[in-house]
Amino acid sequence: MTDETVPAEQLYTDEFAANPYPSFARLRADAPVCPVSSPRFDQYLITRYDDARAALVDPRLSKDLYGPEQHYLKIFGPNSEALNRNMLNADPPEHTRLRRMISQAFAPRRIEALRPRVAQIVDDLLDKVVPRGEAELMGDFAIPLPMRVISELLGIPPADHDRVLDWTQVIRTSGSSRRSPQEERAAVQEAQLRLHHYLAGLVAAKRAHPADDIVSALIDACDQEGKLSEAELVTTTFLLLFAGHQTTADFLGNAVVALLTHPDQLALLRDRPELLPSAVEELLRFDGPLPVASPRIATEDLEYQGRRIPAGSLVGVVINSANHDPGHFTDPDRLDLRRVRGPHLGFGYGVHYCLGVSLARMEARIGIGALLRRLPGLRLGVPVDELRRLPAASPFRGLLELPVTF
Ligand code: HEM
Repeated sequence: MTDETVPAEQLYTDEFAANPYPSFARLRADAPVCPVSSPRFDQYLITRYDDARAALVDPRLSKDLYGPEQHYLKIFGPNSEALNRNMLNADPPEHTRLRRMISQAFAPRRIEALRPRVAQIVDDLLDKVVPRGEAELMGDFAIPLPMRVISELLGIPPADHDRVLDWTQVIRTSGSSRRSPQEERAAVQEAQLRLHHYLAGLVAAKRAHPADDIVSALIDACDQEGKLSEAELVTTTFLLLFAGHQTTADFLGNAVVALLTHPDQLALLRDRPELLPSAVEELLRFDGPLPVASPRIATEDLEYQGRRIPAGSLVGVVINSANHDPGHFTDPDRLDLRRVRGPHLGFGYGVHYCLGVSLARMEARIGIGALLRRLPGLRLGVPVDELRRLPAASPFRGLLELPVTF
């Protein structure tokens, strides 16, 4: 590879969807800062660990997609403000104000109090799976676990969980059906419209009948102190709902595949469950669910690795490549659950560092621990290269289905 623009067809192949790490290694070696055209939008990819970490805190790289330049149009399309104008797509001081409103609810102490409920949800899901001897672990476990947890936290009534899940899955799996790109776009827009309508209704319902949940707490803060606009209540709820389940779901699926394809590491973790916390970090480093951080915008001409990134360009920090950089991790393509050297960038870095990190870690530790305990003969139901995955150019790395037997 050179540092000329890499055309989408060259990078986003089926091979890449199955295993992007050899392509990331080539980019790190030959073109560590390189423009890539994509079916979604063009951007400069930054693939080495040190550059990635620097870029994530570089104030010249803005996250304000809704500024006068209207970068959101390239990424989310028109009419996206109603859901996506949230803290992830804002710079300080807007970002600070929006994040401060919600950060208390995700503080480690608050999250710790949820432990029994998370364990209960894990057990309920596995109670249904265990007698069957086989399962589709994405639909039976990896998706419903974080979805139920975040829905309960937000105060979404149980009767609505399924339809909310259906809409978010249309967004997550976009590009994976046989529909034309126009039909896909229309389906995503339809799902977003319905979600927006639903969440606006949820906010209205919570305003009329407050309860002990995050949406009611946000409304309270908004009414008492005028700190959030009505529109921001909805965009914040959407971000928490979406970020709160789909990354965790994809992570759980990827983690199970990594363990089942590394029997020595699986056996180690079964023997020594006290390794779960470090195992979760290593599994996230090894095959994380968010390969590229959400897009940044160069506010001026930049230089990384001697390569110019012109002002106005979109920039993608490739987390999954940085996490396999041999300059930072010894033998990076080896899964080593006892690895101590870090830290990985799987939860991001800088002001946008994952707000839900404590919750994600708890769900992953309890979820993976219970899977190994309760499904002792767990193995893949199809050869690993036949697993159906999200498309290569998807912003997420995950599985459409994960058939297993046990
Ligand atoms: C931000 C990863 C689970 C809420 C992020 C970012 C990453 C990330 C990499 C930074 C994105 C960027 O800078 O472009 C993950 C992973 C998860 C996970 C790998 C699971 C394994 C969760 C959960 C929640 C959550 C459970 C709960 C609500 C958020 C929010 C942000 C965020 C709200 C935006 C923070 C901001 O803009 O300040 N996450 N996340 N995440 N995450 Fe997570």
